[in-house]
Amino acid sequence: MSEKSSSQLWTGRFTEATDAFVERFTASEHFDRRLYRHDILGSMAHARMLNKVGVLNDAELKAILDGLQAIRDEIERGEFDWRPELEDVHMNIEKRLTDRIGDAGKKLHTARSRNDQVATDVRLYLRDAIDEIIGELLRFQRGLVELAATQSDTILPGFTHLQVAQPVTLGHHLLAWYEMLVRDQSRLEDCKARMNVMPLGSAALAGTSFPIDRAYTAEQLGFERPSDNSLDSVSDRDFAIEFVSAAALIMTHLSRMAEELIIWASPLVGFIELPDRYCTGSSIMPQKKNPDVAELVRGKTARVHGHLTALLTLMKSQPLAYNRDNQEDKEPLFDTVDTVRDSLHAFADMIPSMQVHAKRMYEAARKGFATATDLADYLVRKGVPFRDAHEIVGKAVRYGVEQGKDLGEMELAELQRFSDVIGEDVFAVLTLEGSVSARDHLGGTAPTQVRAQIEKARERLAKY
Ligand code: ARG
Repeated sequence: MSEKSSSQLWTGRFTEATDAFVERFTASEHFDRRLYRHDILGSMAHARMLNKVGVLNDAELKAILDGLQAIRDEIERGEFDWRPELEDVHMNIEKRLTDRIGDAGKKLHTARSRNDQVATDVRLYLRDAIDEIIGELLRFQRGLVELAATQSDTILPGFTHLQVAQPVTLGHHLLAWYEMLVRDQSRLEDCKARMNVMPLGSAALAGTSFPIDRAYTAEQLGFERPSDNSLDSVSDRDFAIEFVSAAALIMTHLSRMAEELIIWASPLVGFIELPDRYCTGSSIMPQKKNPDVAELVRGKTARVHGHLTALLTLMKSQPLAYNRDNQEDKEPLFDTVDTVRDSLHAFADMIPSMQVHAKRMYEAARKGFATATDLADYLVRKGVPFRDAHEIVGKAVRYGVEQGKDLGEMELAELQRFSDVIGEDVFAVLTLEGSVSARDHLGGTAPTQVRAQIEKARERLAKY
């Protein structure tokens, strides 16, 4: 039987020291140390509450607050000695506090447990992380709106099935991305509001026998209210799942954008040029300029989707209340925060500074029979039933493919071979400009509509 280790804080009932492997296997301080600031904030609020209800005297409170403050400074200066045998961030800090201030430090854990402590810390941490991510989302939204403002008349082919469909304006396309980000923001805000409930005071699972004032602690920590059920509070990780789920959808959006950027930047398409500082070269092919940042964002989407599955699976078999399984929530959660924040940061910088090759876009739209629907609509306005008009235009397109001519490049006589209602006025609808400006209603691609949406977006963004 090996000697008991004296550094651990729960060795009272043990006669044998923890196996060195188990110590490593159970330790989380190497990743949960990220919670130190929020752990200290939570402890300070808890200590003030204990003082208010008479569990800690003023001198003890002062020693604890000063001690915690000094520990925070130590950690931030990189001088804190993190010890894996103390398991996690909570016990590392508590042990250090006791080493610094003596017995008062040992009283801090009165009326709480690591179970309600960690549930509180993670909520406090995630609240801040969400604010930071919303900051990046807003910066990205602004960048898209201002780029759209310079591109409200730029025409490119719109695609369905990645086949040229109808001409659209680039401003309209960029604002489609903006809409995705607006929904992402509201999902995060919604998730944050539900998260902002305080578990502290639930103690291990059943509450505590001390006369605690949970409303006072909650108020100090900026929580909306203390939670209503201690069993639920120590075990609930819904807020983490909701956050990762919102993040997974953000990554899906970024990945879709990445896909388009990669296609647009391919020399075969040539719609845009990404800034050099956001691309990399090839070690063997000197001509290459690769859109690696966009590809990595698309690739990193996979890990965030994986984290969502990890958290859902982590929770699915847990009986009430706290189980150590929950320690496994942190790495997926932290990696999600880092990945989504950095990916947004990259796109918020890169996309607004991309170079637009408007001429290439215009040529691509002109070559792809993008105004075929406009010709059909024209025939309908001349009295042809839509199904017949569709057939007529299909034949004209087939002829165009054979002749290597787009609809707008045909002579009037050529077009009239397909329908005698076609007149000189057809050319107004066959131009790309005519096509986009005809879609002049709420939600349409006309430059006037795009400009109106930009104004609406600017007004909304001015509120943040
Ligand atoms: N490191 C633990 C976690 O992240 C803290 C809570 C541990 N509680 C316990 N009773 N072992 O979940």
